Amino acid sequence: MKNQILVVDSGLGGLNVLRLLQKSMPHRNFIYFADEAYCPYGEKSTECVKTRVLKIVDVFKHVACATVLACNTASVCAGDELRQAYAPLFDVVLPTAYAVKQSGAKRVAVLATKLTVQSGVYESLLAKCDVDVTSVDCGEFVGLVESNAPAGQRLEVVKSHLSDICGKVQTVALCCTHFDYLLSEIRSVVGCDANIVSSSRALAESCVNALASNEQATSSQKGQTVYLSSKNDNVYKISQQTGLPFQPFVL
Ligand code: DGL
Repeated sequence: MKNQILVVDSGLGGLNVLRLLQKSMPHRNFIYFADEAYCPYGEKSTECVKTRVLKIVDVFKHVACATVLACNTASVCAGDELRQAYAPLFDVVLPTAYAVKQSGAKRVAVLATKLTVQSGVYESLLAKCDVDVTSVDCGEFVGLVESNAPAGQRLEVVKSHLSDICGKVQTVALCCTHFDYLLSEIRSVVGCDANIVSSSRALAESCVNALASNEQATSSQKGQTVYLSSKNDNVYKISQQTGLPFQPFVL
């Protein structure tokens, strides 16, 4: 029976999206799939990420009533192909671009992985709204999150990537779902005047808008989430610490 919402990321980033979805749709059942065997996606080839994501979504097509690509890199590499074949599918690009546009800023920094930056997707979407985009390859931030790097190192790396944009943009868009974990470091470097747009939040809000209307009808019971990963790594460790239901899922 198709009654689970599949949420996919390369690792921990998509948990930021999942938590928002669980909060707004507490009766829904979720599968969280972390493709940790292939993390970081941003350092792989477009073809490799596309193949992985198509494979993951295809494996769960008989149980997933909706799919959420909680990963900018996966969205730019595979979003178009998946949207046609596996509806309803939510990817992160359009909701994030819309949230940036809504911020009203004319000068924006897009922080993303190498593959997302190379795709140029945010530049071309935002150019249509007369927004000037400076893209910054912050792929190194993913490793900081996945390795749970110490605070000093996190701040140092964030500073080294963002010092050039300080004071030059009105909005900073976190176009990688991992970057929410570095919000306080990013905020401390770019300052309080800059508006920060989170792609995790933008994606979660667009899913909830589309799906929450059937939420009450779905069930009165609290929903369940199962956590799957292609490698016993961080998601496994979290499940050990917190008792979340985890299953290894080799793909
Ligand atoms: N969380 C992912 C994103 O939103 C990608 C991180 C990675 O694996 O490089 O882009």
